[in-house]
Amino acid sequence: MSSFAELTFFDYPILHFKEVDSTSDFLKRDAAKHPQLILADFQSNGRGQFGRNWESLASDNLCFSFQFFPENIFMDMGHKISQAVAISLIEVLNDIIYPERAYIKWPNDIIVKDKKIAGILIESTVTNSKIDRIIVGIGLNVNQKRFSNQLLNASSLALIFPNTEWDRLILLRLIIEKLEVYIGSIFHQDYQAIINRYLYKINETISVIYKNQEIQVINLGVNNLGYWLLDHQTEKRILQVKSSQEIKYLYN
Ligand code: BTN
Repeated sequence: MSSFAELTFFDYPILHFKEVDSTSDFLKRDAAKHPQLILADFQSNGRGQFGRNWESLASDNLCFSFQFFPENIFMDMGHKISQAVAISLIEVLNDIIYPERAYIKWPNDIIVKDKKIAGILIESTVTNSKIDRIIVGIGLNVNQKRFSNQLLNASSLALIFPNTEWDRLILLRLIIEKLEVYIGSIFHQDYQAIINRYLYKINETISVIYKNQEIQVINLGVNNLGYWLLDHQTEKRILQVKSSQEIKYLYN
């Protein structure tokens, strides 16, 4: 296989562009009602979580989005999609970076050697409490060696493993293979145990800002609803964090 155009996603050929504004926004405008994956060498308006920009130099990294139309997934199962995507990325990375390990920083940042190398942006539309369309955007830093000063915590495969050749086509093929497995089995798999195996700093004491206060908590892992459980040391109670907007990390 020598070109991205030969890859398929759930049997549909992927679309590869030199430049788009954002692969996720491209899909939003697209009327196709079938699974579709879009890859761009450059995004002029790449978006991250919380309305931030997603920085990525042209042709260095993998910036792609895919959509699918689930049947019978209620809103409260949304976390399973995010988990399936994070696990797919982790498993691909763990196979190729051994003996290093990739971790999931809750809910779905991908961390290697204490630095973020991939981010996931999930956007969905809901009708009658059911998720009817999901657009997942993934940015995986592959060959970029310099990041702007605001991104002290960003890294890439090439920065962490400078003596290895990183081929975006091979990586994308491996990721798609995993995504097809994990997304295809959302109803049959319980991802909780897998997520906790890959969770960054599980069972460690960490500092976070929660409800405007800096607190020390023990990271107890993710429960069956996808909430992040934190043992509040001073108040001696368990916090259940439902959304990443509720919490600010004070560690990498
Ligand atoms: C994050 O902030 O961690 C999420 C980053 C998601 C970036 C990807 S790159 C491909 C897709 N298109 C976008 O505009 N954003 C996502």
